Amino acid sequence: MSEFHNTEVTEFCLEGRFLDFVIKDGYKLKGLLLATAEGECYVKLAKHLRAAFDLRLPRGTWLQAVGTKKYDFKTGEVTLKAERVMAARFEVGRVKATEQSNRQTTAQSPKSKATILVCQKSDCMKRGGKEVCQALAAELSDRSLADQVTIKGTGCMKNCKAGPNVIMPDKTRYTRIQATQVPAIIEKHIANRSDNTRELTTPLADLVLNS
Ligand code: FES
Repeated sequence: MSEFHNTEVTEFCLEGRFLDFVIKDGYKLKGLLLATAEGECYVKLAKHLRAAFDLRLPRGTWLQAVGTKKYDFKTGEVTLKAERVMAARFEVGRVKATEQSNRQTTAQSPKSKATILVCQKSDCMKRGGKEVCQALAAELSDRSLADQVTIKGTGCMKNCKAGPNVIMPDKTRYTRIQATQVPAIIEKHIANRSDNTRELTTPLADLVLNS
């Protein structure tokens, strides 16, 4: 049927600062407005979330939303529908304000904010990308590294069958990464970042796609 060719449905995992609720007819909660690294973004809430959502949520709270993203090829319209919304454990949204200055200072400052890239297209998400994303956030938060490291979702890295795919700040690429391996990878590439370049250890070597 033609409608199947007109839309593409993938999964997404998005972080941003809560701006406002979107209310219909004066009382029906429909979704949230988030300030993300890419700009202001409307995220529709799945039915089961609407009923349970706490309307006292303070503006400015950092949230992580996970759900499905629908792209309409005809109109170019993108619709995000959240199946889960939780408090973000890291402040990725700061990227927007600091993205440009980070880019400019990367070469000069060893303390500039590092970025971990995580593929958020459907194949990687189906293979555990969501869990990896959450594990990365949790690990950075646990190690108090959230203010130094940003997690950023990307489009397809063209290595779908070997997903989830992750690229660390030093450009080391990991494939078939699992959430349980995240602590060791953070230890290797982030926690020891000041003296770490790109050397690989044997236990992780089989995960590395390119270095
Ligand atoms: S879907 Fe992740 S690399 Fe293609």
